Amino acid sequence: MIDLTTRYLGHELKSPIIVSSSPLCERVDTLVALERAGAGAIALHSLFEEQIKAEQDALDNYLNLGAESYSEALSYLPELPDFEMDESVYLNHVRKAKRALRIPVFASLNAHTPGAWTRIARLLELAGADGIELNTYELAADPNVTSIEIEDRQTALVRSVCEQVSIPVAVKLSPFFTSPANIARRLVEAGASALVLFNRFYQPDFDIEELEVVPNIRLSTSDELRLRLRWTALLHGRVPAHLVITGGVHRPEDVIKCMMAGASAAAMTSALLKNGIDWLSTVIDGIRTWMEEHDYESIEQMRGALSHQAVENPSELARTNYIRTLSSYVAVHR
Ligand SMILES: Cc1cc2nc3c(=O)[nH]c(=O)nc-3n(C[C@H](O)[C@H](O)[C@H](O)COP(=O)(O)O)c2cc1C
Repeated sequence: MIDLTTRYLGHELKSPIIVSSSPLCERVDTLVALERAGAGAIALHSLFEEQIKAEQDALDNYLNLGAESYSEALSYLPELPDFEMDESVYLNHVRKAKRALRIPVFASLNAHTPGAWTRIARLLELAGADGIELNTYELAADPNVTSIEIEDRQTALVRSVCEQVSIPVAVKLSPFFTSPANIARRLVEAGASALVLFNRFYQPDFDIEELEVVPNIRLSTSDELRLRLRWTALLHGRVPAHLVITGGVHRPEDVIKCMMAGASAAAMTSALLKNGIDWLSTVIDGIRTWMEEHDYESIEQMRGALSHQAVENPSELARTNYIRTLSSYVAVHR
């Protein structure tokens, strides 16, 4: 009997596949279908720092307006304007998801600055979230901001969210740091219990006829997995945190590679958006078949088998591999 369970953030997941944040997580009936198809856990779509702040600003403006116009402001305030209460909609979604599902549900916050808005983390915990995935998506585009400032701010952000809650916090981070291993360590020291490697940056295209920058999302392919495999393999056992891979997990072999790199779980979005929810059960069946054929009994048995700690020549994962990789290329055209 093949054991597909894996431990992640204090939970035993029935499979190593987490459905990661996307529009697939917006409807409770879809979440139920994903659970049925074999998802080990769900990371909900994100609530953005900007949404929370905009809502708070709108409420403040509204209250100030009333206070300036009338002395007995509160008793004369008209009905609240009809702006969408993103925060309460999201909290309700967490409550509903928790009621409908047995697998762990992680709320997701997308943010780049610490501050008072992080009190939402506590509300997510009270709504029943089993953990928080904090996506620190940020493009470092300002020439006046140094890498140290960005790293300090992201570390402060993680600390600020972690201080609000007793549930675990996972940080979904970018691969674009001068020293990804060092920032990984700092984020864990700031309180992160898991690192989700890595954020995908969506690249806008240029429309040269209309002279426009065109934002669009390209779904991933398995090719994007390699960057994540390498860093997971390098960090496994070096930072005291669970590692999850997101980006390029499409096939059963991809999930197996993630486990062998040392990940606790592999997250999937593009493959499900492309192939539909039932793809999840196809991948899980494929993992089981592969493990049977290769005499593995459990995910645990495979974990870290190709991490830097386990491979015969860890430099294959790092610098010296560079020369060998380049010289191994057989050029067809010279
Ligand atoms: C349409 C779409 C919406 C997404 N929304 C979010 C989001 O709200 N928050 C987040 O952290 N990641 C979001 N992501 C990123 C995914 O969770 C995932 O990390 C990324 O797509 C890489 O995984 P994949 O290769 O399996 O697609 C989104 C991705 C897609 C394609």
